[in-house]
Amino acid sequence: MSEPSAPTGATAASAPVTSPAGASARGPLGETLLEIRGLQKHFPLTQGILFKRTVGHVRAVDGVNMTLRRGETVGLVGESGCGKSTVSKLLVALEKPTGGSILYKGKDVAKMSGRALKQYRREVQIIFQDPYSSLNPRMTVGDIVAEGWSVHADIAPRKDRLKRTQELLDRVGLNPDYVNRYPHQFSGGQRQRIGIARALALQPEIIVCDEPVSALDVSVQAQVVNLLEDLQDDFGLSYLFIAHDLSVVRHISDRVAVMYLGSIVEEGTDEQVYTTPSHPYTQALLSSVPLHEPHLRGQKDRILLQGDVPSPADPPSGCRFRTRCWKAQDICATEAPELVDRGQGHPSACHFAEARAVVPVDVE
Ligand SMILES: Nc1ncnc2c1ncn2[C@@H]1O[C@H](COP(=O)(O)OP(=O)(O)OP(=O)(O)O)[C@@H](O)[C@H]1O
Ligand code: SF4
Ligand SMILES: [Mg+2]
Repeated sequence: MSEPSAPTGATAASAPVTSPAGASARGPLGETLLEIRGLQKHFPLTQGILFKRTVGHVRAVDGVNMTLRRGETVGLVGESGCGKSTVSKLLVALEKPTGGSILYKGKDVAKMSGRALKQYRREVQIIFQDPYSSLNPRMTVGDIVAEGWSVHADIAPRKDRLKRTQELLDRVGLNPDYVNRYPHQFSGGQRQRIGIARALALQPEIIVCDEPVSALDVSVQAQVVNLLEDLQDDFGLSYLFIAHDLSVVRHISDRVAVMYLGSIVEEGTDEQVYTTPSHPYTQALLSSVPLHEPHLRGQKDRILLQGDVPSPADPPSGCRFRTRCWKAQDICATEAPELVDRGQGHPSACHFAEARAVVPVDVE
């Protein structure tokens, strides 16, 4: 990947992304970079002050399968607490999996050490949800962006670092002269741009974007999403883009994976998931997406979900969605449905999967 150079600003068109398998809206996809198989993360639940004993486990991530190809954006969506951030931390090796595997360019990340692990940590970067807490308030913006070069010194020789930092700030739409300012002197959207510049400084292959726009105003959200799309075009980046709102994910994703209580319940191209959702949970999520076009508002299917998300420490038997599902039958309590194609053209983890158009098809 080449180093960011010419300032181009955040101007990508916000055209809807439609993607046949094997292609993104911005061109053909490359080889598989990430292959996630049966990924699990169970956090121990402990009791006692002096003598801690394990009394159970929070199954934050419980059997996630996913792939990410070069140049592709996969949207990962689900309610609060379903395990999205835990997946992102596992991907950037901030947490170790309890089970399953993450293959990067065909190599098992759990077996990497030394130089290979260092390389992986450089090539897979993360942008966090909260642009306030994710930047060290005592460091200047220049030092924040350049911080990774103290570990990966070969990327930027010391004498070039100021110039490179300013180029990066320029590339993400910030004034390069602000290099000596502190994070509190920037707005939320600008801070998120600083986080993007910090990730970009390490010339990554993949950026895991953990709800990067959730804390921002709607108008600023679009600008940051457009910037990410611009950068993807320029540097051939791949994104895992996490959000709890399906409408945010649609604008940027080639494929969408819907997560509920630790596992993926439906997966497909953005077209498939939006026009023919077949899992009841996806249908309910889609039904809660606000429609901005007044003439379409009356055409939406209203599905109100009953009850709260069950505790991941004690998930329901069989299908985890059954305690909130209006279609549940006896088999749903005893047999966990596999994530397979049941005739809809894309996989769905529901024994009774059937397509249901929830939102009008011309909605972007
Ligand atoms: N270090 C930890 N120890 C114990 N439990 C944890 C830990 N980290 C996360 N959890 C639990 O794992 C579950 C999934 O958390 P996670 O942060 O991955 O969810 P999320 O989908 O990112 O939620 P949100 O949308 O609110 O960010 C939650 O029940 C959470 O309380
Ligand atoms: S498997 Fe049963 S409970 Fe689960 S989503 Fe399908 S119908 Fe509902
Ligand atoms: Mg989270």
